[in-house]
Amino acid sequence: MSRTSVITGAASGIGKATKELLEDRGERVIGVDLHDAEVVADLSTADGRSAMVDAVRDASGGTIDAVYAVAGLALPAPATVAVNFFGTLATLDGLRPLLAGSDAPRALLVSSMAALMASDDELVALLAAGDEPAALARAEVLAKEPAATGGLIYASTKLALSRWVRRHAATDAWAGAGIPLNAVSPGIIATPMTADLIDTEEERESLLKLVPMPLNGIAEPIVVARLLAWLNSPENTHLCGQVIYVDGGSDVVLRGDSVW
Ligand SMILES: NC(=O)c1ccc[n+]([C@@H]2O[C@H](COP(=O)([O-])OP(=O)(O)OC[C@H]3O[C@@H](n4cnc5c(N)ncnc54)[C@H](O)[C@@H]3O)[C@@H](O)[C@H]2O)c1
Repeated sequence: MSRTSVITGAASGIGKATKELLEDRGERVIGVDLHDAEVVADLSTADGRSAMVDAVRDASGGTIDAVYAVAGLALPAPATVAVNFFGTLATLDGLRPLLAGSDAPRALLVSSMAALMASDDELVALLAAGDEPAALARAEVLAKEPAATGGLIYASTKLALSRWVRRHAATDAWAGAGIPLNAVSPGIIATPMTADLIDTEEERESLLKLVPMPLNGIAEPIVVARLLAWLNSPENTHLCGQVIYVDGGSDVVLRGDSVW
């Protein structure tokens, strides 16, 4: 029987490419986004998150097969904390009960190789503690100096997401319920999120110095979509809590022998 998947961030970039790929394969996709989606919802707010869960429950009839938590922001602003971390967790935790009726339930989130970059210890700790008001307040402070500390916000949310997957994938809620839960960390992908950063050859070269991609360079979103689709397919029976880098080699270049 055809699978029903939920993809957040489905209106653009990686989420859109994943939606198109799954639909081409005959799957049903319930897209979630701020616009141009089956479920229009704002994942930066508590109301938006619970409205999203209600709308997905209604649209699906109460059972879904896979969750793709892809939506994200890369702004040096508190909204990035709200969407990337708390919106993602609300998506996974909120939709998990709907996976119970599937015979091959799967879930994933999109982190980033930016998790390997400098981050803010205080913000990462607040995210791990699940304290949204305090995390937003810390991000507000970091955002006051966009050039010096603003970039720490995005990296902190992605580091916290990767750790969250490691800490939760093997628990009763996920592995114990037969749900593989994993993360994918892309390198530089050509989407609207990065368009301003990779407009010219000079910009591309200077970004690739920070994020080296010796294998085939900057990627198109379909490259990530194919990996996401496999991870959330019935073929994936045993990947549990993995953070998979689809990054043209930046993790290897930056971390070398450090496999953990
Ligand atoms: N593009 C890259 O180089 C890259 C690299 C690593 C990780 N990522 C991650 O991949 C994911 C997708 O990014 P992308 O490059 O496709 O970006 P994108 O900007 O093309 O798409 C992101 C989507 O998320 C949606 N979104 C943002 N805020 C939202 C909110 N409050 N509620 C609901 N939806 C919201 C946007 O409307 C948009 O459609 C993000 O989590 C991003 O951090 C991207």
